[in-house]
Amino acid sequence: MNTDLCKFLNIQKPIISAPMGGAAGPDLVAAVSNAGGFGVIPLWGGSVDGLRDGIAQVRDLTDKNFAVNLNMSFPYPGLLEACIQEQVFAVSLFWGIEPSAIEAAKKGGLVVFVSVGTAEEAKRAVDAGADIIVAQGWEAGGHVWGDVATMALVPAVVDAVNVPVVAAGGIADGRGLAAALMLGASGAWIGTRFLASVEATIHETYQQGVLAATESQTEWYRDLYHVNWPNAPHRTLKNSTSLRWKSADNPEHGDRPGEGEIIGHMADGKQIVRYQSSTPNPGTTGDVEAMSLWAGQGVSLVRDVLPTAEIVDEIYQGALDVIQSCHANTCDT
Ligand SMILES: Cc1cc2nc3c(=O)[nH]c(=O)nc-3n(C[C@H](O)[C@H](O)[C@H](O)COP(=O)(O)O)c2cc1C
Repeated sequence: MNTDLCKFLNIQKPIISAPMGGAAGPDLVAAVSNAGGFGVIPLWGGSVDGLRDGIAQVRDLTDKNFAVNLNMSFPYPGLLEACIQEQVFAVSLFWGIEPSAIEAAKKGGLVVFVSVGTAEEAKRAVDAGADIIVAQGWEAGGHVWGDVATMALVPAVVDAVNVPVVAAGGIADGRGLAAALMLGASGAWIGTRFLASVEATIHETYQQGVLAATESQTEWYRDLYHVNWPNAPHRTLKNSTSLRWKSADNPEHGDRPGEGEIIGHMADGKQIVRYQSSTPNPGTTGDVEAMSLWAGQGVSLVRDVLPTAEIVDEIYQGALDVIQSCHANTCDT
């Protein structure tokens, strides 16, 4: 399975672990790169020193390449500059197409991934120098930039650009990877499946919720978990907070039931209020079930917690099996 993406990144398996703020730390990212895939670490939420420290931690765990994920709607120029100084192999830019950021990263010698929600955005990103496009369908867990489903988005993006395209959203096993390749993508960008990995840094209640949820138990919200990151659509598990809000007829913020209520604390003691955009970690205390439990529609395919390396192997082998049996069946008919 030596796709364009594999050749470009010099990897064996066209599997990229999605950056997941609060959930995908150095252990997970390094494990994916060590297993022959490619890890992406989100380092946009803190200081330049924190970013340098995160890069150093991944480098301590792997000599393979990985990318640093930056968020274009939070202050990023200092972080991008530090990525260039650190000479990370790649950056992944999401939440907006910023030609100047793409150009600066390219000028600094980095490989640039850009996440998009439409073919038109993909063209703009490639015109500015993007090397790899991440086409994120709205099935995806976490913050969701566009509103087109993966099945329709990926081929449209593939037709629009001449660089490797990676499919994101709803892919959680080998069948999903095989399907993405059939749509013309040259790899898959997978988040929710890795929430159920040994290395994911999430609270047990959240992980149990992921293991138990069916495909109809996530929901897309325009602005539900608005505290700390307003006006940024997202997909999470349905929970007591979303139920209360819907029972009250989906009010805007200012009028939401339980707004401002402290429902828990982070490991460092900081308060978490209802409707806060915050990933519950092992050290989080309080009513974890009521917090923002990011997850994509592929959640129904996630039924066991495995070491990250085994997840990468399972998805890769599963895709090979599906492709071979599909080929055999076609030849039979
Ligand atoms: C818990 C969680 C946190 C996420 N945080 C980020 C992030 O910090 N940066 C980013 O680019 N995407 C983030 N995403 C979105 C992923 O990059 C990716 O698009 C998505 O997980 C793919 O869909 P899937 O969850 O169905 O595999 C997050 C997703 C999840 C589930």
